[in-house]
Amino acid sequence: MFPINRPRRLRSTSQLRRMVQETVITASDLIYPLFAVPGEGIAKEVVSMPGVYQLSVDKIVAEAKEVYDLGIPAIILFGIPDTKDADATGAWHDCGIVQKAATAVKEAVPELVVIADTCLCEYTTHGHCGYLEVGDLTGRVLNDPTLELLKKTAVSQAKAGADIIAPSGMMDGFVQAIREGLDEAGFENIPILSYAAKYASAYYGPFRDAAESAPQYGDRRTYQMDPANGREALKEVELDIAEGADMLMVKPALSYMDIIWRVKEITNLPVAAYNVSGEYSMIKAAALNGWIDEKKVTLETLTSFKRAGADLILTYHAKDAVRWLNE
Ligand code: PBG
Ligand code: ZN
Repeated sequence: MFPINRPRRLRSTSQLRRMVQETVITASDLIYPLFAVPGEGIAKEVVSMPGVYQLSVDKIVAEAKEVYDLGIPAIILFGIPDTKDADATGAWHDCGIVQKAATAVKEAVPELVVIADTCLCEYTTHGHCGYLEVGDLTGRVLNDPTLELLKKTAVSQAKAGADIIAPSGMMDGFVQAIREGLDEAGFENIPILSYAAKYASAYYGPFRDAAESAPQYGDRRTYQMDPANGREALKEVELDIAEGADMLMVKPALSYMDIIWRVKEITNLPVAAYNVSGEYSMIKAAALNGWIDEKKVTLETLTSFKRAGADLILTYHAKDAVRWLNE
């Protein structure tokens, strides 16, 4: 009891504060997302995400070198294809944009870990994460036929050089299907980072500009989770563990720190948190208005994800964060 107990004693100098600091964020915790587009010499800034660009493969390679030099261990690749169709051909074709980018990055920076986002929404005409029944305008993706496409996509990404497969479509059984596909093709050593608890979130808005992947009609609520549900995330996580996931992701991160915490409590697998586009853009917008300190708010946010239990953080702020940490 006070006055015996005075917690402020351990906060009185910066050296003491350093000694009792519980959570430290480093470059090794971060994963940097990149958006690949066809063409050459292209760097097109995403209007709703200042500092984030759609990049042609040559520019992706340059970026990958920079990321590696900063000590960030991994990138995650998203692709914007030339053409979209009902079968998401651009996702699973061996000459797909993510495949090309993965191969080029592995050639130029072999040590950088390349994670391939494995989903179909960027490649389908309707922008949903799988097959739709002909005439469906609600977006109720057909689960089991979609698994076949995801399997093909994952194998083709692994063939192209991807080190980790990260399925993000929230289809039932997708981890098992992809594990089978990878194993059959001889990729039994390629890990799966499952977007295990992914919510139907309005925070994805700017990403859909970046990836040109907004659903043309309907929404994703028949496959992504209801933001109101916490226990359901644990169910999803348990299933993905049983199906053979090597790592688990919670997405988004900021409004879902309780989920990160609860997931961490029930698993010994590494847990990743996706600091999504809307979370990034909110900080950027406020900072550009001079309303908040971008550096301090970002580092505080990233530290909080780690404190909540995240081992890895996917963030558009990864390069900035490392530069700030190095200052
Ligand atoms: C789709 C996908 C989404 C994100 C990554 N892959 C969300 C969606 O459009 O439903 C969001 C990432 C972000 O907002 O930063 N499979
Ligand atoms: Zn998708």
